[in-house]
Amino acid sequence: MDLLLLLLLTCAAALPSASSDPDDEACLTQLSQSLRDPLKNLQNWTKSTFANPCSGFTSYLPGATCNNGRIYKLSLTNLSLQGSISPFLSNCTNLQSLDLSSNSISGPIPQDFQYLVNLAVLNLSANRLQGEIPPQITFCAYLNVIDLHDNLLTGQIPQQLGLLARLSAFDVSSNKLSGPIPTSLGNRSGTLPKLNATSFEGNKDLYGYPLPPMKSKGLSVLVIVGIGLGSGLASLVLSFTGVCIWLKITEEKMAAEEGKVSQIMPDY
Ligand SMILES: *[C@@H]1O[C@H](CO)[C@@H](O)[C@H](O)[C@H]1NC(C)=O
Ligand SMILES: *[C@@H]1O[C@H](CO)[C@@H](O)[C@H](O)[C@H]1NC(C)=O
Ligand SMILES: *[C@@H]1O[C@H](CO)[C@@H](O)[C@H](O)[C@H]1NC(C)=O
Ligand SMILES: *[C@@H]1O[C@H](CO)[C@@H](O)[C@H](O)[C@H]1NC(C)=O
Ligand SMILES: *[C@@H]1O[C@H](CO)[C@@H](O)[C@H](O)[C@H]1NC(C)=O
Ligand SMILES: *[C@@H]1O[C@H](CO)[C@@H](O)[C@H](O)[C@H]1NC(C)=O
Repeated sequence: MDLLLLLLLTCAAALPSASSDPDDEACLTQLSQSLRDPLKNLQNWTKSTFANPCSGFTSYLPGATCNNGRIYKLSLTNLSLQGSISPFLSNCTNLQSLDLSSNSISGPIPQDFQYLVNLAVLNLSANRLQGEIPPQITFCAYLNVIDLHDNLLTGQIPQQLGLLARLSAFDVSSNKLSGPIPTSLGNRSGTLPKLNATSFEGNKDLYGYPLPPMKSKGLSVLVIVGIGLGSGLASLVLSFTGVCIWLKITEEKMAAEEGKVSQIMPDY
C-alpha cells in the first residue's frame, strides 16, 4: 500500500516536469524579445507558454513543432517580423529546422548557431540580414538546406561550408557577397549534388565557377587611371589657355587705359 502511494507520487512529480525544458524556455523568451512583431502575428507567444511550450508532441506555440517535449521545428515565415535573431536561439538545442523566411529581420546571423548541432534546415531567405555568413555554422554537420537568398549579407562565402557533406540545397543569391566562390561549393566533387549559378547570382562582386571568372580588374584600373590622368591634363590645358586669354585681354585693356591716361594727364 505504501509502495503504491510512493509510486503514484513519483509519477505525479515526474509527469509535469517532462514537458518543460529550461533551455527551450530561455531560447523562446530571448527570441521573442529580440524579434519585433508589429502586426501581433505571434499568437500565444507569452511567458507562460514559453515555460511550457510542449505537451509531448503537441505545441501550444503556433509556428513551433514539438518532439518528445522539446522544440524541434520553428517556422515563422511571412509574418512581417522585424528586429534581430537572438544568439540564445542556440539554446533550442533539439532544433532540426529553422525557417524565418520572408520577414524583415535585420542584424547578423548569430555565430552561436554552431551549437544547434541537430540543425538540418536553415531558411533565413528574404529578410534584411547583414554581416558575414558565420563560418561556425559548419559545425552543424547535419545541415542539408541553407537558404539565405535575398538578404544584405556581405563578405566572402566561407571556404569551410564546402565541408558540409549533406548539403543538397544552398542559395545565397541576391546578397552583397564578394570574392571567389569556394571551389568546394562551386565545383563539388564526387557524388555531392552539384550547385548551379542560380545559387550564387545577384551578388555584384562574387566570381568564379559556376559564375563567370573575375573581371580583369587590372585593365579597368588602368583605364580609370588613364581617364583620370587624361581629364586632369585636359582641364589643366584648358584652364591654362583661359588664364592666358584673360591675361592677354587685361594687358590690352591696361595698355588702352594707359594710353587714355597719358592723353589726359599733362606731361611735365
Ligand atoms: C495557448 O497556450 C495554452 C497553454 O499555455 C493552450 O491551452 C492554448 O491551447 C494555446 N492556444 C493556441 C492557439 O495554441
Ligand atoms: C504573406 O502574407 C501576406 C499577408 O498576410 C499574404 O497576402 C501573402 O499571400 C503571403 N505570401 C506568401 C508567399 O505566403
Ligand atoms: C544559451 O545561449 C547563450 C548564447 O548563445 C549561451 O551563452 C549560453 O551558454 C546558452 N545556455 C545554455 C544552457 O546552453
Ligand atoms: C525557404 O523559404 C522560402 C520562402 O518561404 C521558400 O520559397 C523556399 O523554397 C525555401 N527554401 C528551401 C530551400 O526550401
Ligand atoms: C571542376 O572539377 C573537376 C575535377 O574535380 C575539374 O576537372 C574541372 O576543371 C573543374 N572545373 C572548374 C571550372 O574549376
Ligand atoms: C539550377 O538548379 C535548380 C535545381 O537545383 C534548377 O531548378 C534550375 O533550373 C537550375 N538552373 C540552371 C540555370 O541550370
